[in-house]
Amino acid sequence: MFEPWIEKYRPKTLKEIVGHEEVTKRLESYAKSKNLPHLLFTGRAGIGKTCAALALARELYGEDMRQSFLELNASDERGIDVMRAKSQQVKANVTSIKDFARTMPFAGVSFKIVFLDEADALTQDAQQALRRTMEQYSNNTRFILSCNYSSRIIEPIQSRCAVFRFSMLRDEDILKIVGNVAKCEKLELDDSAEKALLYVSEGDARKAINCLQAVSALGGKITEEEVYKVASRAKPKEVDSMLRHALGGEFMKARKELQDLMTRYGMSGEDIISQIYQQVTRLDIPDSVKVALVDKVGEYDFRLTEGADETIQLEALLAQLMLAGKK
Ligand SMILES: Nc1ncnc2c1ncn2[C@@H]1O[C@H](COP(=O)(O)OP(=O)(O)OP(=O)(O)O)[C@@H](O)[C@H]1O
Ligand SMILES: [Mg+2]
Repeated sequence: MFEPWIEKYRPKTLKEIVGHEEVTKRLESYAKSKNLPHLLFTGRAGIGKTCAALALARELYGEDMRQSFLELNASDERGIDVMRAKSQQVKANVTSIKDFARTMPFAGVSFKIVFLDEADALTQDAQQALRRTMEQYSNNTRFILSCNYSSRIIEPIQSRCAVFRFSMLRDEDILKIVGNVAKCEKLELDDSAEKALLYVSEGDARKAINCLQAVSALGGKITEEEVYKVASRAKPKEVDSMLRHALGGEFMKARKELQDLMTRYGMSGEDIISQIYQQVTRLDIPDSVKVALVDKVGEYDFRLTEGADETIQLEALLAQLMLAGKK
């Protein structure tokens, strides 16, 4: 049976969560006192917010936490008519919250927990409804809201919650998480493969683990090559070489490398732009040139999201780099 490693290796306790020391310490003290306010977890994707909520619930309720812990996802519905789908979803959610909150809590804890993932996907109206629901059931229910952007959560909800900001995972944190999975799965992971995993995962532990699992399907030895291929990311040095050729005025060479990237890795225009962006800031060139380049990258990124032709736009961007390089 296929078991996603992100579930298999999800930390069971707050202690097992890598990084976020301040956050887990505060959560542990809630667990110990068996009391907590409403919580708002905010931070980037794949860094342990859901893990923290689940681990906290397990510490409070033990293994039968499922009776006292309701997990809802604010944006399960992704239709064309997103707005309507969402308001229906919220209605469904409110009904399940009602049913859930009606029964008594277990395990000597005086409240149940409703965990609402992707709370920032809720519309303003839905958030107003949520706020009323939070108030209505506050005597025996605590809400843990999780989001990527706390600025999208309305003020009255923020002020009812203790806010926990999950910072980015450090490279060493990601390596620790990935290293543990590799050890348990008996994978061979060398330095270059580790570096590649760090590069493609951009601080997202979920991405790193998923990538590792995909590569491991090909065998127990994890190589740099396969990591980039599975993530459909070019090797940083390939992007680097393309940029250098463009900056140095060798347009046709750069163009050929661009075409190679698109065909070999099956990268989309947006993937390539975001990698160019990552690489531009690391180039060893004067800041004034970097500024001009980042400005151009921003402009061409916008053009792509507006639906302009990828090949033409990317080649035009290379041409712009060449002009910037001449100055
Ligand atoms: N700090 C961490 N320590 C150990 N494992 C982690 C950590 N963060 C993430 N992981 C791994 O990555 C997976 C995804 O993490 P999680 O579901 O907690 O992300 P999230 O922060 O809730 O992301 P999203 O914003 O997308 O909901 C987990 O199942 C776990 O395997
Ligand atoms: Mg989550």
